[in-house]
Amino acid sequence: MKLAPSLLSCDFTQMGEELGRLADADCPADWAHVDVMDGLFVPNISFGLPILAAARRASPLFMDVHLMIERPERYLRDFAEAGADGLTVHVESTQHIHRAVGMIRELGKRAGVTLNPGTPLEAVRPVLGDVDLVLVMSVNPGFGGQKFIPQSVERVRTLRHWLDELGSEAELEVDGGVTPANARLLADAGATVLVAGSSVFGPDGPHAGLRRLREALA
Ligand code: DX5
Ligand code: ZN
Repeated sequence: MKLAPSLLSCDFTQMGEELGRLADADCPADWAHVDVMDGLFVPNISFGLPILAAARRASPLFMDVHLMIERPERYLRDFAEAGADGLTVHVESTQHIHRAVGMIRELGKRAGVTLNPGTPLEAVRPVLGDVDLVLVMSVNPGFGGQKFIPQSVERVRTLRHWLDELGSEAELEVDGGVTPANARLLADAGATVLVAGSSVFGPDGPHAGLRRLREALA
């Protein structure tokens, strides 16, 4: 299981140090999850290209960039150039999801597709053979620290089944409200990457948060 702490919950005054802590922990993070929000697709604005570029300079971690922006195809090249390793786009944010995932692959990056908790899974089915990652949102995107939506477990199970049927090696990632209490359940349902913001960057720091998640998965 890969763990991808969400930088949205880190201390932005110390982002370089926080990234260092993720990589050095006795059970280090696998990826850094970067949540980009435009205030249109989701009701919040987080950060964009210069922050990704700074994170890139500060860390060798795989930058897993989650674009919560309208018409992401306008910015895919910019995010790739700013240091994204993987780019994930929402089916609800573009009229042309095939084109968007194709563009990501042409840029040489890992192409991800995702969908909001209220969107039927069928919406991503046509592109499952064309992506390197499928992300199941287990909260309505926009904010860290929200409560996990329990129906997400069944959605992970269904997507696991569909990906296996296709013989796809794509990662199956879950994002939102992931804690030591549900991590095992998500692993058993077939997830391969867990994003965690508030449960990693808690008051006792990312080492302790990562260790608690690893213990729950052991
Ligand atoms: C939600 C973001 C998530 C969020 C996760 O819109 O996409 O990545 O930061 O934070 P937690 O783990 O606190 O739910
Ligand atoms: Zn995210």
